[in-house]
Amino acid sequence: MGEIVLKDVEKSFGDVSVLRDINLTIKDGEFVVFVGPSGCGKSTLLRMITGLETVSGGQVVIDGEDITHTKPSSRGLAMVFQSYALFPHISVRDNIGFGLKIAGLPKAEIDAKVAQASGILGLDALLDRKPRELSGGQQQRVAIGRAIVREPAAFLFDEPLSNLDAALRVQMRIELIRLHERLATTMIYVTHDQVEAMTMADRIVVLEGGDIQQFDTPIALYDRPVNKFVAGFIGSPKMNFMEASPGPDGTVQVKGGPALKVPGLDPARMTGRMTVGIRPEHIRYAHDAGDLTGKILVEEQLGSDAFLYVEVEGIGMVTVRAVGERDFHSHQTVHLSLPPETCHVFDESDLRINEN
Ligand SMILES: Nc1ncnc2c1ncn2[C@@H]1O[C@H](COP(=O)(O)OP(=O)(O)OP(=O)(O)O)[C@@H](O)[C@H]1O
Ligand SMILES: [Mg+2]
Repeated sequence: MGEIVLKDVEKSFGDVSVLRDINLTIKDGEFVVFVGPSGCGKSTLLRMITGLETVSGGQVVIDGEDITHTKPSSRGLAMVFQSYALFPHISVRDNIGFGLKIAGLPKAEIDAKVAQASGILGLDALLDRKPRELSGGQQQRVAIGRAIVREPAAFLFDEPLSNLDAALRVQMRIELIRLHERLATTMIYVTHDQVEAMTMADRIVVLEGGDIQQFDTPIALYDRPVNKFVAGFIGSPKMNFMEASPGPDGTVQVKGGPALKVPGLDPARMTGRMTVGIRPEHIRYAHDAGDLTGKILVEEQLGSDAFLYVEVEGIGMVTVRAVGERDFHSHQTVHLSLPPETCHVFDESDLRINEN
C-alpha cells in the first residue's frame, strides 16, 4: 500500500514561507511528478514526505496513518537522489544489500532480494563490480536497486537523472516507466524538466513559488491549463502569448492582429486586459495569406520539425512549430493563422477563461 495524503501542509524557514496550502492525495500505485522552476519548493515538499525536513503546519498521512512527526526510517519510504551516494569500496551486490544487512536480515534472504532487484534492473552481470567501474546510468540503477530491496510503500525520486547525458536520460526514463509498471508501487518524482513530467506521470503537480498551480493528468495540463503559468510551463517550445482585449460580437481582439471567435467564452468574464495563448504546433503558416504577416528571423531545422521564430510587427516574436517542414527558411516572409478553437484565453489575473 502507499496512499499519501498531504493536508494543509506548509513550510517556512524562519520568516520565509516556502510552501503554502499544500493539499494532495496521491493514490496507491500512482506515479506523480512534482514539476516547477528552480526554488519553487519541490525538494522541500518531497523531504517533508520522507521526514528529512520538518513540517511547519498541516499533516502528512500515509495509508491512513498520520506520520507527520514519525522519524524517516519508520515511514516505509525509499528515496533516490540525484547523487547516488554509493559506497565506493564495496561491490554492487553489497551496495544493493547494504540496508538489509544493517537491518540484520539473514544472508540467504538478502541474497534472494538482491537477486530479484538485480534481475528487474538488468544488473546481473555487474554485481561483482565496484561503483567506479560503472557508467552513470548503471550507478543510478544500483541506487534504485538499493531502494527496491527495501520494498517501500513508495519510492521518492529527487531529480535522479539530472547527472546523466541526454541519451541516457531518455533510456532511464523508459526504464523507470517500466519499473513502475512492474512494481505498481507509488512513485513521486521531482524534476524541473517538463518533458520528463509529461512522459512519466500519471498525474503532475505543477508548483510555482510555493503554491500548487494545478494537479492533473499530463494531457489535461496541456489541453486545459488553469492559468498562464501552467500554459507557459507545459509544452515545448513554449506557448505564444499575445496581448488582447474584448472585441466585437463576443470575439477576442488580438492587439495588432485578428479578432478571434474562441469557443467556450463567457462574455461576462471578458473584460479589460486579456491574453491569447496559442501553442507553436497549432499555428498555421503559408506563403500567401493569413491573419498575421511576419518575417522568419531564425529557422531551427531539426529534420522532424522546424521551429520558425517569426517577428510579427505589432505583436513581437511568435514561435511556430512546423512538422516536417522543408520549405521555409530564415529571412523569408510567412503568413500565420490562429485557429480560434486551438487558442487559450486568459483574463486580467491570468486565469484561463475559455471552457472546453
Ligand atoms: N534549509 C533551508 N533554509 C532556508 N531556505 C531554504 C532551505 N532549503 C530550501 N530553502 C528555500 O526554499 C525554497 C524551496 O527550495 P527547494 O530546494 O525545495 O526548491 P526546488 O524546487 O527543489 O528547486 P531546484 O529545482 O533548484 O532543486 C527556495 O527558495 C530555497 O532557497
Ligand atoms: Mg530541488
